[in-house]
Amino acid sequence: MKKEEIYKKYNKKIKLLTKYNKFYFDKSAPIVSDKEYDDLKGEILYLENKYAFLKSKSSPATVIGHKPSKNFKKSSHKIPMLSLSNAFSEDDLINFEKKIINFLSKKESFEISYSAEPKIDGISASLTYKNGNFVRGLSRGDGKEGEDITNNLKTIKDIPQYISSKDFPEEIDIRGEVFIQNSDFENLKDKFANPRNAASGSLRQKNPEYTKKIPLNFIAYTFGFENGLKVENQSDYLKKLRQWGFKINPLNKLISGVKNLIDNYNEIEKKRADLNFDIDGIVYKVNDFDLQKRLGNVANAPRWAVAHKFSSNKAVSQIKDIEIQIGRTGALTPVAKIKPINIGGVQVSNASLHNEDEIIRKDIRVGDTVTVERAGDVIPHVVSVDVLKRSNTTKKFIFPKKCPCGYETIKEFNKITKKFDAVRRCPDRGFECNRIAKEKLKHFVSKEAFNIDGFGKKIVEKFWELRLIKLPQDIFKLDYDRIEKLDGWGKLSADNLRYSVDEKKQISLERFIYSLGIRHIGLENAKLLSRYFGSFQKFKTLSKKNNYSDLLNIDGIGETQLVSIKNFFSKNINLKILNELNEVLNIQDAKVVNTKGLLRDKSFLVTGKLNNISRAEVKSLIEENSGTTVSSVSKKLNYLITGEKPTKKKIESAKALKIKIIDQDEFLRMLNKTG
Ligand code: IVH
Repeated sequence: MKKEEIYKKYNKKIKLLTKYNKFYFDKSAPIVSDKEYDDLKGEILYLENKYAFLKSKSSPATVIGHKPSKNFKKSSHKIPMLSLSNAFSEDDLINFEKKIINFLSKKESFEISYSAEPKIDGISASLTYKNGNFVRGLSRGDGKEGEDITNNLKTIKDIPQYISSKDFPEEIDIRGEVFIQNSDFENLKDKFANPRNAASGSLRQKNPEYTKKIPLNFIAYTFGFENGLKVENQSDYLKKLRQWGFKINPLNKLISGVKNLIDNYNEIEKKRADLNFDIDGIVYKVNDFDLQKRLGNVANAPRWAVAHKFSSNKAVSQIKDIEIQIGRTGALTPVAKIKPINIGGVQVSNASLHNEDEIIRKDIRVGDTVTVERAGDVIPHVVSVDVLKRSNTTKKFIFPKKCPCGYETIKEFNKITKKFDAVRRCPDRGFECNRIAKEKLKHFVSKEAFNIDGFGKKIVEKFWELRLIKLPQDIFKLDYDRIEKLDGWGKLSADNLRYSVDEKKQISLERFIYSLGIRHIGLENAKLLSRYFGSFQKFKTLSKKNNYSDLLNIDGIGETQLVSIKNFFSKNINLKILNELNEVLNIQDAKVVNTKGLLRDKSFLVTGKLNNISRAEVKSLIEENSGTTVSSVSKKLNYLITGEKPTKKKIESAKALKIKIIDQDEFLRMLNKTG
């Protein structure tokens, strides 16, 4: 063979390997079987051995990346690792602050100090120190349970192995971000899409020697469990971190007032391109730990913090077609198929058009030149149309009135706004509509629901088309022999999938209820229902009910949720799903939260305005101490807490039912707190 031919052959193989690598490492979605991959690698090494003149920086002999392992030991976080809610605009920030002030029942003028910390886009990790020694490091995982990556973390030079400072707590989980610097990423460009993926790949190597080769950094910013930490606010904590030998973000600041937050945000956004690490926003944390404690969490994010994401990136493209997608709740969402375009480093070919009204209002047509925006992690959307660039052959877009399943769609009437919805829907048919069913399956396997490793939206699409799954229970009865033979699969990947699916057969009632995707039952409501019913068996009795009104006793469940729950249980297909899922799953009873609290077996209702404490805070105080709250005076009520200007009728009914009426001070005394 001539030299050129050898080069050509070799380069072709290298190119193919680079492509496989991208899918393999980056997207964790291999496009060839392990055997095919290994064979190709072998062929390249063979050629290199035979012809000494062959060289490539992507040669498998020199590359540092190895397949990230799925086999790390799992371990629980003593205190869960939460996520953050997002803010995109000044209005979002004003709202965030307002909610805090309301919750704390403070005057509008109350000044809150925030620790403003640029949000590094890396991988979070939790490092446990006992008596100064770094003993264990976990990845975030699902927030409750992470992977034990101690040995890999030990290779990071920013992580102290031992801390001798006298004021270092006896035990503490130091939490922060593992990331790779942009300058180091330069050498890894053809293997990973971005620095974040490179950091993640490096951290998940089975062999720490490989981790060592990809230079990782660590910046600390919070803590989980602690015993002996003596600081009162976040900014002092950050100072301590530095004294103990951790790196902290040099751009952290203490700021109060939304206007000043915005100024700081604009300043940092300008510097963003020059930083040696990727940031995707700024995290604001209420500085005072006492206030943080009072504010607590909603679902899986703290009330006292928010991530202010950097403004979107925009680009101009052309609409090639408009498709109608059916969402999980039956909403018909128009999606523009656009000429692929790079927005902020991501290739975008779909952009949301929101709803029918939006299309009519902006008169958006196929062929139009449009501006597309991509903000944070949300789906890109069309912001405006350049009418001047429109050709006169385009036609108005006619929105379909039927769902692809054949059903007439409807626009719901909103009783509160007294207007028809902008969104057109296939009436709430759940799994009876084929299109909705597919979306419901995606929700079922999603992160906050069953969270099945490696079972993402793409696999749902594929298995759906192949008719391997139709209803949720099918996921637990997959035909793995058939899957193994599918294109791009093999024994190993089928076994991995089986392992991931089996692993999730045990599930909490709360997650289970959320997974069902009942409209208007999100994480928070699923938690409420789970606590109220306690077990799957009790939850299922809803199917035998005619009257659902006692659900209204659950604070947080209103008429909208009630109608939706009723609708869910009125469908035979849903009952079949519940029964069959119950057969294959182990649905765990709700964990009773602290049943030994001071307020156990006691129920409360507040009327009138309380002093310095909001309704929401009273509610969390009651629940933390094992009490319950109800929404009306009935025989079930034990205590009516009265504040300023109470509702007379409530007091009268309480008196008639001989219910104890107490004021705020008496209530706080019940908790051993003085008023
Ligand atoms: S605090 C309880 N502080 O953002 C609040 N998180 O969406 C959660 N992150 O998983 C952690 N910089 O990976 C916090 N200064 C910072 C952060 C930060 C980046 C990441 C972290 C977390 C995610 C939450």
